[in-house]
Amino acid sequence: MNRIAITPLGFAVGAQVTGLDLREPLDDVSRQALLQAWHKHLVLVFPGQDLDAAQQIAFSAQFGTLEQNDFQPHYRDPAHPEILLVTNRKMDGKPSETRNTGRNWHTDLSYTTRPAKASLLLCKEKPPIGGDTMWANMYLAYETLSPKMQAFIESLEAIHDVSLIKGIEQRDPEKVADMKRRNPPVAHAVVKTHPDTGRKALFLGQRIRGFVGFSEEESAPILRFLNEHATSSEFVYRHRWSVNDLVMWDNRCLLHVALPDFDQTKTRHMTRTSILGELSGYYYKGGDDLGRESVLQAIAAVS
Ligand code: SIN
Repeated sequence: MNRIAITPLGFAVGAQVTGLDLREPLDDVSRQALLQAWHKHLVLVFPGQDLDAAQQIAFSAQFGTLEQNDFQPHYRDPAHPEILLVTNRKMDGKPSETRNTGRNWHTDLSYTTRPAKASLLLCKEKPPIGGDTMWANMYLAYETLSPKMQAFIESLEAIHDVSLIKGIEQRDPEKVADMKRRNPPVAHAVVKTHPDTGRKALFLGQRIRGFVGFSEEESAPILRFLNEHATSSEFVYRHRWSVNDLVMWDNRCLLHVALPDFDQTKTRHMTRTSILGELSGYYYKGGDDLGRESVLQAIAAVS
């Protein structure tokens, strides 16, 4: 019988889980224990899990329906559409398209109307030093705002834009154009209630263009404040990877960022599965957000 041990790794986020072989199906008791720990710690680290693609998919599928990565089809494992390759290994002799994935604070697939509920990232190869990932707790970020600020942001909607993925301009232009076509900007509430825990969390990040109904100039300082607050060090857990760590996180109450803190000539190869979240948000067509340029043009047109 499995003996699950759950050891906290950080004050705000993170716990290590040992005593399970993830190649085996979970029994009900273990699954419930994991879900409980996941809702409490938000990021679960399972060390020493040497899973192949099929085993990673099978483990992940016990928590929901898996993404087929249709939002970013160019970067998935050709043999397993459920697996996104986050790697700097050369692909077909060319630099990998996903070598810079996740370099700004974000939640996975926030630029879609179905942001990921969970992501599961398995470390297959890592540089000798660095290549860390950080997660920030968005419950705490919300709960530590003043009541006045909480009330102010309650009705705010943020415009999430795939073209703000950091480093996207270094990718193949045709693939990027296709990704933009598939993913027009999407507006999401800035404060969301977690469907399982009922707690409110900020839904933010650095792939946001501004707020619906606000100009970009008006949005920028509010967004900067909120993102800086949300990613304050007291809300963050930083993971130093070991090969065969599988990390499972809850995108609905976290932001994360992949750090470029390593020698880029060394290999970092990760495989990611994601679990579909709920439908939310709407495609943002614009119209009511006047930026400085459009205001100047409007003034010039009537004068
Ligand atoms: C991601 O943003 O999902 C990838 C994170 C990482 O590679 O550390």
